[in-house]
Amino acid sequence: MRPPRHLETNRLRLRPATVHDAAALFDAYASDPQATRYLSWRTHETVDDTRAFLEDAQARWTDGAEFIWALVPKDADADPTGGRETLDTIDPVGALGAAATPHGVEIGYVLGRSWWGQGMAREALVAVMGWLRSQPDVFRVWAYCAVDHHQSARVLERSGMTYEGTLRRWVVLPNLADEPCDAWVYSWVRHDQ
Ligand SMILES: CC(C)(COP(=O)(O)OP(=O)(O)OC[C@H]1O[C@@H](n2cnc3c(N)ncnc32)[C@H](O)[C@@H]1OP(=O)(O)O)[C@@H](O)C(=O)NCCC(=O)NCCS
Repeated sequence: MRPPRHLETNRLRLRPATVHDAAALFDAYASDPQATRYLSWRTHETVDDTRAFLEDAQARWTDGAEFIWALVPKDADADPTGGRETLDTIDPVGALGAAATPHGVEIGYVLGRSWWGQGMAREALVAVMGWLRSQPDVFRVWAYCAVDHHQSARVLERSGMTYEGTLRRWVVLPNLADEPCDAWVYSWVRHDQ
């Protein structure tokens, strides 16, 4: 699978997240206990944690294992020409990842708190889902969220996924607890058998 490096929505540009985004993403969400509460990794303590994460993300993109886009608001685009050459200089406010799984992908996303409540996550996910749906070898797009994470569940529903069930003791969310918690799983599939 080779997804597009750049995608565009009404309010966002999506481009591969790189180590150059470390400071912006550390400030936007990675260092924020509230924004990372339901994520699968511990809240970052220093910008080096975010840099290491992004180094890994870049390698995973190259390997085709996972594709993490930085979400860049168009409003922050200081370039009067709106040219793509400046994309790497605009601070991103969130990230969306698509990890390759057998016959499909697993989705994850996060926004900085000041960007919550505006439908931005859905907007980014709809764009990525649009591309995934156009790929005949992608049969399943799925995501989980912690039970009771209604905001995230709604993002998934509004992006075209449906609730499949509750996976009991599915995942450790280390900022919540050391033990695995139950998770809701949502999916879109190419066709029902
Ligand atoms: C989860 C997250 C991505 C949501 O993104 P967002 O763009 O701010 O989402 P919104 O606030 O626009 O809300 C999405 C939907 O949830 C609804 N919603 C919000 N709070 C809700 C609640 N308590 N119960 C039910 N629905 C709720 C909103 O009304 C909206 O529905 P709508 O699209 O039908 O209007 C964002 O809060 C975030 O980045 N959180 C931290 C990281 C995270 O938890 N990621 C997901 C891990 S599974």
